[in-house]
Formats: sequence, C-alpha cells, structure tokens
Amino acid sequence: MSTDWKPRWQGKWVLITGASAGIGLELAKLLAANGADLVLTARRTDRLQQMAADLKSAHNVQIEICPADLTQPEAPQQIYNFTTAKKLEIEFLINNAGFGAFGYAHEIPAEKMLEMIQVNCSAVVHLTRLYVPAMVTRRHGDVMIVASLAAFQPLPFNSVYAATKAFDLLFAEGIAEELRPSGVNVCALCPGSTNTEFQKVADQPDRVFRSAETAEKVARVGLEAMAAGKSYIISGFMNNVMKESQRLAPRSLVSRMAANMMRPDKS
Ligand SMILES: NC(=O)c1ccc[n+]([C@@H]2O[C@H](COP(=O)([O-])OP(=O)(O)OC[C@H]3O[C@@H](n4cnc5c(N)ncnc54)[C@H](OP(=O)(O)O)[C@@H]3O)[C@@H](O)[C@H]2O)c1
Repeated sequence: MSTDWKPRWQGKWVLITGASAGIGLELAKLLAANGADLVLTARRTDRLQQMAADLKSAHNVQIEICPADLTQPEAPQQIYNFTTAKKLEIEFLINNAGFGAFGYAHEIPAEKMLEMIQVNCSAVVHLTRLYVPAMVTRRHGDVMIVASLAAFQPLPFNSVYAATKAFDLLFAEGIAEELRPSGVNVCALCPGSTNTEFQKVADQPDRVFRSAETAEKVARVGLEAMAAGKSYIISGFMNNVMKESQRLAPRSLVSRMAANMMRPDKS
C-alpha cells in the first residue's frame, strides 16, 4: 500500500471527531506531526485543551477545539457552524467518535442504544452531509468513517454496536462510489480489537480483546488507506483472515461462534 500519506494534509484543515482518546487521538498526533492543522472535537474539553497545547508546541500547527456531545442531534450543525464562522476549509473529515455497549440487547437501557445509533450513525451521516458539498465544489476532499471488523458479521452481545458499524461501512462504500467522479475520496477504516478506552466504556470482558492492535498502528493504516484511495481497509493481517473465513462459513455458524466467545455469563 502507498505510504505517501504524509504530505497529503500538510497545511490543510482536518476535522476529527472523538479526538480526546484512542484512535482519534493517535490520528491527531500523526496528522499534526505531518503538518496538518486540526479541529478536534469530543466531550472532554480538558483533554482537548491539553492536546491542543501539546500538539501546537510540538509541531507548530494550528489547532482549534470544538467540544460537542454527538448524542445531541444538533451537535453536527454546531460543529459545522464553528468551522464556518472561523472560515476553516475542511479538507479531511474524520468521523471517528463512537462507542459500544456490551450485554443482552433486551437489558441494555434503551436510551443508551439510541444514543449509540445517534453517535455512531446519525452524526456520521449529518457531518458528512454538511462537509461534502464544499468538497464536491472544490473537486477535492477526503472523508474517513471509522467502522469496525464488527461491520462484517452479527456480533451477539454487541448486536446494536455491530449493526451501527455495518451501517457505517455500507454508507462509506456507497458514497465512495457516488463521489468517485467528483474527486472526493471516502474510506471506511475497519479496526479489529484495538487497545483504547473503548473496552472500558463498553463494559466489555477482557477475553474479547485478545491480540488487540495499538491505536497508533490502526490510525496509520487508516491514513495510508485514505491516501491510497481505498474505499475500506481492515487493519491487521489476522483480522483480514478472520473476515475472509467468516465469509465462507454459514452465517448462523458465524453468529453462534461469536455468541460463544462473547457470552456474558461465561467465566
Ligand atoms: N477499540 C476497538 O477495539 C475498536 C474496534 C473497532 C472499531 N472501533 C471504533 O473506533 C472508533 C474510536 O474508538 P476508540 O477505540 O478510539 O475508543 P475510545 O478510546 O473510547 O475513544 C472514543 C472517542 O469517541 C468520543 N465520544 C464518545 N462518545 C461521544 C459523544 N457522545 N460525543 C462526542 N464524542 C464522543 C470520546 O470522547 P469523549 O468521551 O471525550 O466525548 C473519544 O474521544 C469508534 O468509532 C469505535 O467504534 C474501535
């Protein structure tokens, strides 16, 4: 794969959602180290402020922070208004914010599942709808949507999460093709288990996270794939093997095996 991603966003504005931790934070670090100017958004303002100070002094780039809670339906418009008011031309939109919730779908609070759909799906569609028209007019721009290896199969005890990620993947691949003639690139980054705060937030058991990748590696793979014009990328050799092997097996068997691995009552 092309590794020529480093100069691509130099001096350009990149908007990253979920920038306060994990994969989003590593994307921010890699991009700033290669000269990109960043708009960072997440809920935890203290973290964003600290990151902005660190990245500015380390790399001499411009950083704006725009705290927002993407469970709120008006948040994407507020972020867009913020960048428009500051006349920041967003060249690269990274829809990374997301979370999961582990357990029986009929026991997880309904509000939490609906918020998950709002953050993982609705906000992604809304932000993309807000920023892509200017990219089409300019005839260049990049959009990354962080999906998951979970997008490729049902994931019992993470059922809503996997469904949101399947949505993200199909949305990304669909618009990637729609936008191809316009010079705008769209790429779905599909990580497998990755060492971040995700597991703790989702209340997920350790055994699910065996052989996790680092967030820095996943972020790098995503940026390489974006620059190489791929419509999706799965990070990690074994994750690619897993995706191919599940394609060959009956879907019911794939679900059952996943359920056996994830079952909450399992010791
Ligand atoms: N880690 C994995 O194993 C894994 C695997 C596949 C895909 N992914 C995907 O990778 C993406 C990044 O997750 P991660 O692993 O880096 O997890 P993480 O360390 O928990 O980071 C999640 C980020 O999303 C932000 N976020 C969560 N809820 C939000 C809300 N309501 N409003 C605004 N921002 C919100 C968090 O910021 P605040 O809390 O400060 O708001 C944080 O910056 C997610 O889309 C996730 O689904 C992760």
